[in-house]
Amino acid sequence: MSTGSYNFETLNDTAFQAERLRQQAQAVRGLEAGILRAAGIQPGHDVLEIGSGPGFVSDLLAELAPDGSLHAVEPSAVLLAQIEANVRAKPARGLFPHQAFGDALPLPADSIDFSYARFVLQHVPRPEAVVREVHRVMRSGGRFCAVDSDDGLVIFHPEEPRVSAVLRNAQATQAAQGGDRFIGRKLQEMMIRAGFINVKSRVLALTSTELPFAVLFNILMGYKASLLGDALDVRKLFEDLSADVAAGRRMVAAGVFIVSGEKA
Ligand SMILES: C[S@@+](CC[C@H](N)C(=O)[O-])C[C@H]1O[C@@H](n2cnc3c(N)ncnc32)[C@H](O)[C@@H]1O
Repeated sequence: MSTGSYNFETLNDTAFQAERLRQQAQAVRGLEAGILRAAGIQPGHDVLEIGSGPGFVSDLLAELAPDGSLHAVEPSAVLLAQIEANVRAKPARGLFPHQAFGDALPLPADSIDFSYARFVLQHVPRPEAVVREVHRVMRSGGRFCAVDSDDGLVIFHPEEPRVSAVLRNAQATQAAQGGDRFIGRKLQEMMIRAGFINVKSRVLALTSTELPFAVLFNILMGYKASLLGDALDVRKLFEDLSADVAAGRRMVAAGVFIVSGEKA
């Protein structure tokens, strides 16, 4: 397997991308803790995180399962090396970083209570293989939660042609690299096919009146803009949109799918 449409080492601006992931995690940390608790994470759980990146979300998982363990799976050696430092309180039974792909987990069957994949499956060429592999390593009664984008949930009103162009371009580029910017709506069926039961899908949308626009812009455009390289003046676009949003002339909203299922 490959890292599909998210190959950290070849992104043109790795420091910016790491900072973007940190901002994304911090801005919604409280909200995300609620989502994870509702999805079933418990203090003593053995937790698996697929595509942990630099470990900002791993830190939250460790906080929510302090008496258990955390297995963080990440193909990028550069990102994996940052996890130790970013997980501030290690779980009692240990933090285990694994350099691996999600469809070949270095874990035995029936060893995990709770699994989480956040903004990962949209980048993976065969996401259904990852979902099946997660199912294999989970214990009966364990729950898997996947959070991912779906560009059908992005609203800019009035429309901004530069944004529409970035989205169209990102959809095509990501698809050409094996990713899928419309994966959110497909996760439920993927989980059911892999054998998960009690699968629930929820859509969570946030608007430019709920998150600082800089954060929302970064979430929406940061990665996509980097796919375009220098073809777009991102700073100018940000400044134009910020002015509109601050003046109440433009509404921006973006949603994610939160899909969770249980191993029978
Ligand atoms: C957009 S980042 C999200 C990182 C983190 N989950 C977060 O939300 O901050 C996607 C991550 O998935 C990783 N990734 C890409 N392909 C993968 C695969 N096949 N299996 C597991 N992880 C993968 C990338 O290296 C990257 O760290």
